[in-house]
Amino acid sequence: MHDFHYAGNELWCEDVPVAEIAGKTGTPFYLYSHRTLLNHYRTFDSAFGAIPHLVCFSVKSNSNIAILRIFAREGGGADIVSGGELYRALKAGVSPKRIVYSGVGKRIDEIEFALGSGILMFNVESSQELEQIDACAGRMRKKAGIAIRINPDVDPMTHPHISTGLKQNKFGIDIESSIREYRRARSLKNVNVIGVDCHIGSQLTDISPFIDALERLKELVRLLRGEGFQIRYLDIGGGLGITYNEEMPPHPEEYAKAIIENARDIDSTFILEPGRVIAGNAGILVSSVLYTKSNNEKNFVIVDAGMNDLIRPSLYSSYHAIQPVRKENREETVADIVGPICESGDFFAKGRLIPKLERGDLIAVMSAGAYGFSMSSNYNARPRAAEVMVKDGKYHVIRRREAYTDLTAKERIPAFLKK
Ligand code: LLP
Repeated sequence: MHDFHYAGNELWCEDVPVAEIAGKTGTPFYLYSHRTLLNHYRTFDSAFGAIPHLVCFSVKSNSNIAILRIFAREGGGADIVSGGELYRALKAGVSPKRIVYSGVGKRIDEIEFALGSGILMFNVESSQELEQIDACAGRMRKKAGIAIRINPDVDPMTHPHISTGLKQNKFGIDIESSIREYRRARSLKNVNVIGVDCHIGSQLTDISPFIDALERLKELVRLLRGEGFQIRYLDIGGGLGITYNEEMPPHPEEYAKAIIENARDIDSTFILEPGRVIAGNAGILVSSVLYTKSNNEKNFVIVDAGMNDLIRPSLYSSYHAIQPVRKENREETVADIVGPICESGDFFAKGRLIPKLERGDLIAVMSAGAYGFSMSSNYNARPRAAEVMVKDGKYHVIRRREAYTDLTAKERIPAFLKK
């Protein structure tokens, strides 16, 4: 469900015509619906209402501080993977007591920042990291709350680049070795074992891999409790998929129901780390058609957004629906929708059946709210797009479009080149 819909021939975001915003801010820009974000968050959170739980929005999926603040105000936490994400979460007003920190490569300065901020727990991904966290906490005279990220070796049946819970993936520690690490953690003075964690992948459209992983985690929790560990938190990560095209992922309520049914015998607070399911369909990327051209083989529609703005099609061959912002009565055609970047991988759609587009037309690349702006770059020296949020009939720029001066703001010409 989302709040982008046609009224007459116009695409609207809630009760504001998308074209009106484009007229004011220029293109390309990301556009988010506040109502969709809030509904998605609340639906997800309340689906788990029957068990103690904490929803930690996955900051990597969309890290704009205005968006993070919406969830913080709802009492949500954050799943972070870097010092930068911690900085953003704190800046947005997320309580540090609701922040969990995953990632295989936490630097010492990042660990110190997190300890100093008083986050809830580190999801530890290696034996050496565990030692580092203990040492940092010792120096800072703090106790670090930790969970070990388990790699349960479950196939999430998703795109190989975004599956994380298989033995061949770099994430987490296998169950056998994790038992050794838990025992070792107990002997360390500056860490407090408080949880068990796992995240098996993203864009999952089936519940069974989640349940398989949960079964394995539960076994581990029982074993650890048998040894006297106090496992207060069971973090089952994020990963619930959304509809980009024809996928039929379980509704959050269905997902929660399955988890809750399997969680009855485990007395822990559940931590959930959803990203895509909250933000994905709450945002679109709006772009203008610059040119069209055809050769004997193909029709190309060249738009003013590029792979630097939305890299998902290039990186994962992901499908994003493309819709005209204004529906005109035009015949349909098959075309590649491409950006201005000097790479053949710079496309949003290939061989797509769409109503014929003309110069100046606006298009909406749908389902771009997660892993859209957050994965954008300045490649080809392109200033990053603006981000805009609609709420209650008004729109708000939540990140201004970058200017050329932003591109070079951090660069310096050394003295020897100034002469
Ligand atoms: N927790 C951890 C530890 C994660 O690594 C991730 C995502 C999440 C939670 C949130 O997963 P979600 O609920 O959004 O599926 N760039 C890729 C997705 C990469 C996901 C990385 N980890 C894409 O555009 O599809």
